[in-house]
Amino acid sequence: MNFKGKSLISIKDLTKVEILHILKTIGHFKKTKNPKLLENFVLGSCFFEPSTRTRLSTEAAMSSLGGKVVGFADPSATSQKKHETLHDSIKIISQYVDILAIRHPQEGSARLASQASKKPIINCGDGANQHPSQTLLDLFTIQETQKKLQGLNIAMVGDLKYGRTVHSLAKALSHFKARLYFVAPMSLQMPRHILNELKVQNVKFSLHDKMENVIKKVDILYMTRIQEERFPDKYEYEKVKNVYVLRPEMLVGAKKNMKIMHPLPRVSEIDFKIDESPHAYYFEQAQNGLYTRQALISLFLGKIN
Ligand code: CP
Repeated sequence: MNFKGKSLISIKDLTKVEILHILKTIGHFKKTKNPKLLENFVLGSCFFEPSTRTRLSTEAAMSSLGGKVVGFADPSATSQKKHETLHDSIKIISQYVDILAIRHPQEGSARLASQASKKPIINCGDGANQHPSQTLLDLFTIQETQKKLQGLNIAMVGDLKYGRTVHSLAKALSHFKARLYFVAPMSLQMPRHILNELKVQNVKFSLHDKMENVIKKVDILYMTRIQEERFPDKYEYEKVKNVYVLRPEMLVGAKKNMKIMHPLPRVSEIDFKIDESPHAYYFEQAQNGLYTRQALISLFLGKIN
């Protein structure tokens, strides 16, 4: 399958067949080292918003395959400070590098960047919209733990309104006949336009405000952080910030192979004691980010098919 020159802006840019091919390629990179594959290629790492996992796993992916990285993690050290537009910045950077990874706080910024860029773009999160490379690592992790993707029961818990990871994941799971449980306070439930899309795809889902009601039913419990930085009104954040805290006693009666995932960072929504539980899988999930970004960069640079 030829991905050379492609960008990844939305998970909806990929067909089911393409998603499955990328997951297979991630598996290949998990098993195989190839320290020279991307020699002579340069990644532009453009992070206009804070990141630990996405930025460092993307940069480590490039370095571990022999490529080079240029970029920034602090936009105040770029000409954005002098009011350069995102369009102009990306147009210029794309002349210096072979592929770009971009995170930006505005919804739609990755699409705009792809229109300005001469080179492939990986959307590493555009505001509350999408985080498609996270979704690919999430799907890979789900498949790794459950030995299948089809027909699973999956709960998403927390900030479903502003959570770009759950927006992308819910859309992707519509390919795999998942039964979805959305657990959030009413004010942070999954946006109506995504629920409507799922209905059109005949995805079965239900809305809940308590996670206790769904833990025993699911194969994957996908926790998310209530994201203070996305709230226009800090008073609204204060009302919901501690609404979900997963504690060890709440896992009694869960399916034996139920796995807890989280895109991270975590604040208080998963008790630290759960890290020792056989259900906890969020650190392994984050590690899969490395292989996922190795696969995406290599595919988009045409160094692997
Ligand atoms: N999962 C994720 O996007 O984490 P970072 O914000 O640390 O990149």
